[in-house]
Parts: sequence; C-alpha cells; structure tokens
Amino acid sequence: EVVVLDYGGQYSQLIARRVRECGVFSELLPHHVGAAEVAKRKPKGLILSGGPASVYAPNAPKLDPGLLELGIPVLGICYGMQLVALELGGTVESAEVGEYGRSTLTVREHGRVLAGTPAEQPCWMSHRDTVFAPPPGFTALAASTASPVAALESTERDIYGIQFHPEVVHTPFGQDILKNFLRDVCGCDLTWSAASIVEEQLARIREQVGDKKVICGLSGGVDSSVAALLVHRAVGDQLTCVFVDHGMMRKNEGDQVVQTFRDTFKVPLVAVDAEERFLTKLRGTTEPEAKRKIIGTEFIRVFEEEAAKLAQGEEGARYLVQGTLYSDVIESGGGTGASTIKSHHNVGGLPDDLQFELVEPLRALFKDEVRAVGAELGLPERLVWRQPFPGPGLAIRVVGGEATKERLDLLRDADAILQDEIRKAGLYRDLWQSFCVLPDVRTVGVQGDERTYGYVVVIRAVTSDDAMTADWARLPYDLLEQIAARMIGELREVNRVVLDITSKPPGTIEWE
Ligand code: XMP
Repeated sequence: EVVVLDYGGQYSQLIARRVRECGVFSELLPHHVGAAEVAKRKPKGLILSGGPASVYAPNAPKLDPGLLELGIPVLGICYGMQLVALELGGTVESAEVGEYGRSTLTVREHGRVLAGTPAEQPCWMSHRDTVFAPPPGFTALAASTASPVAALESTERDIYGIQFHPEVVHTPFGQDILKNFLRDVCGCDLTWSAASIVEEQLARIREQVGDKKVICGLSGGVDSSVAALLVHRAVGDQLTCVFVDHGMMRKNEGDQVVQTFRDTFKVPLVAVDAEERFLTKLRGTTEPEAKRKIIGTEFIRVFEEEAAKLAQGEEGARYLVQGTLYSDVIESGGGTGASTIKSHHNVGGLPDDLQFELVEPLRALFKDEVRAVGAELGLPERLVWRQPFPGPGLAIRVVGGEATKERLDLLRDADAILQDEIRKAGLYRDLWQSFCVLPDVRTVGVQGDERTYGYVVVIRAVTSDDAMTADWARLPYDLLEQIAARMIGELREVNRVVLDITSKPPGTIEWE
C-alpha cells in the first residue's frame, strides 16, 4: 500500500482515490500522525498532499523530518512539495500573483515521474507560495507560467515533488504521472481493485464473528446492501437482515429489497411493515425537524424490538453490520483497521446503548468502490446505482403539511413517473438525485373544459459530487414536457408541474 498524508488540501481524498484507481491500495492519514505511525503500515511509498496554509503561516502544519528518512520514496504535491523543499534547504516564497486554475507545464527534463508525458502539457494549479530554487542536490524538472520550479526530484534521496495537482481531471497526464511514481519509483504492481479485497474481507468477517449471530438493518441503499451481502457470503445464515418499511419509501422499493435479498440471495430477512405505526406517530406534525425526530425515534424502537426478538434464541445476535464507508472513517480521523468503536454514521441512527459489536466490512472503501464490489457480488444494477435517499424518506418531501397516507401515495406515484422517464432518457446515473416534492398547495387549472383545483408537483433534479454543493440539472425540455404530461394525465389530483431551478447554495437539495 501507499500512504497519503493529508495536509488539509481540498483534494486529499481525491489523491487517495486516484492512487487506488491506478491499482494500488492507499490509506489517507492526517498529517500529524508522524513518521512512526506511517512506518507501522510498511508502505511502499508516501505522498504528501496539498494544503490551504502558507508554509510560513504561524500555525501551518509542519513536516515531520522523520518522514523523509523512512527509506521509501516520497512524492510531495503542492503544499507537500513546498514543505519538502523548505525542509531540505530550497527557496520557497510567496509569489506576487497566485497561480489558480489551468496552467501550462514546460518540461526541461522528464526525470522519473514525468517520464513519457509531453514536453508541454496542461496542468491544474492552486497556490500562492512557490518554490524558486530546489534544495541542494535536487533537479528542477519543469516550470509553469508562474512557477519557476513546478516539478523537482532527487533520485539519490528518492524524493519527488510536483506543484500542480495530478489528481484532478484538468491535469490530463495526472494519472500517468501518479502511475510513474507508483510503479516505476515505488515498485508497486498496480493490481489492486475493490473487488480484489472481497476475499480478504470475507476472512476478516469470519474471524471477527466466529459462529455468533449477526444482525443487519437494511435500508435498500447501496451501502447497507453491499455490507449485508458481504457478511452473508462470509457467514451465511448466521446473518439476519431486518428491513423496516416505514411507509415513506419510493414506489415498490420495499418489495424490491425483500425480493432481492430473500428470493435472489436467500438471505434470512425480517421485513417489518410499520407504515401504520409511523403514520399514526406523524399525525398532526408539519414541522420538518419534528418529522425527522419522530421517524428517527420510531425507527430505532422498531429495530430494537426486532433485535430483541431475534436475541430470544439460545444465542442472541451480538454483532451488528454497519455500512460505514472510508470517507466516514476519514472524517472521524480513524484508520482502516477493524474497529469496535461506535460509528456516528450509522444507517438508521442507532443509539449507543444497543449492545452490539460492529461489523463494518466497507470501512476501507470509497463509495464508487462499494458500487464495484456490489456489482461483483451480483447486486442488481438498480440497487448498485441507486441515488441517495434520505432516511425519513418521502415524509420530508410532503412539504408545509402533514405527511398523510393520501399525500404520500400521490407523491410516490408522481415520483415513480419521474424516475421512469429519467431512466428511459438514460439520465439516471448522471444525476446525484432526482425526485418530486409535494407542497401543501393547490392551484386552479382547466382540464376538459372544467375548472380544476389540484396539487402542484415540483420536479427537483441536481448534479453533485458530495451533496455539499449542487447544481440544478438542465433536464431536456422535451423530457420535462413528457414528465409533466404523464403526471397530469395519470394523476387525477395533479394539475400543475413546476421545476426547481435553485442550486445549493443558496437552496438545499431537499425542500425540508
Ligand atoms: P440537503 O437537503 O441538506 O441534503 O441539501 C443533503 C443530502 O442529505 C440528504 N438528506 C438526508 N439524509 N436523513 C438522511 O439520511 C435526513 O434527514 C436527510 N435530509 C437530507 C439529502 O437527500 C441530500 O442527499
């Protein structure tokens, strides 16, 4: 494996992902872990990420000099290169103008990391501090418009640096440069893939669980589905899945989950139809946070009841499967090792006092890798590529009003039409999320020479990478027309369809 040390750059996770895409397992660790912690992992190489600070800022993250003495190749990217240059006696200064965005790299000497790439190539920059002279014994390999030293190396010390960002798509030869470092410098064989760690995960799960029972809350999303399948493959029917249908799911989604797991994969499954129970609790509630709270609390109650029932046998379920992902682990500052620490990112928001040990088979994987493993395990495409769906479901899309059975059913039908048309148009995977919102508003229309007074359906579709920011999707007009025509034609209570053209910020993705 290769360790990526995170100096706080916005692209640090992306570096780790790109290394994996090259075929080398990577771990992203916070910069303060120090040389000893890195050495423990016996990595074949070390990458120092970019970061927002100036190397001269009072609180700027420092380089642990021990990192350069581990006897493994080091690649510094952006801030990472500046740190190395400064530490070893190069000149780093603030340039008069920063260099942000597209730039041109002019290669004087290719050295090892730029080998095989053009003498002039586009690259993506984001920095103000600049290396003006390499440390003694280092060769300056390339310059860019505003960086006299945009790449440097010392093959003797096995230390390399690039000022630009090889991990972003705007650096077209970025992957080649990373591969040069990983294969030719570090000696990695570029064969890792998410699917290739399935066997390893199965062994690890078997070792952790032994012959004990395991329980898993299925939500129908890709994370819990893949986690459940992995555990089932590892320990078979020691696993029982619990699927709580709270009545806020999309059309037929509950059935699909039950069918896939119980019928196709033969996974022992308890499906709880709790629609009545949730609707009763939600009665009279219109405030979004109150709805969330009611649904969250009720979900835990139902799950606990089922877990208690399962525990009544001779030996209770002691293990709980969670679909924790690597990005969650990074956010909470942890490593990829098996852990029994309670994760705050659990599927149903389960409380700490549930006495379970966690099984987290996806802890080492990024989302796209989880999808790859899902596909490898034979999970249907529909589940592998499912757009994110909020825990409280359709209840927070019946806005400004009470989530009654009637409104939820209407919204579910409208949503089904939208999904159907978006899939038919081949756009489903391009969208981060696409859904309908049903405000508690009626408007006047005219249909068949008669005045109508019906519901408005809002179409919301966004593109995004991480839900932190989002852009409204430019759906084709013809598609929008087709969707609107079907909704009004097929849904008696709907007489108007509108499109939400708000990005995030200033809007949020959901309306509540
Ligand atoms: P917003 O609306 O804040 O949503 O832009 C960002 C992402 O989070 C999802 N979301 C939720 N997910 N429980 C969840 O599990 C919730 O209460 C919830 N609220 C919003 C939303 O669908 C989007 O992907």
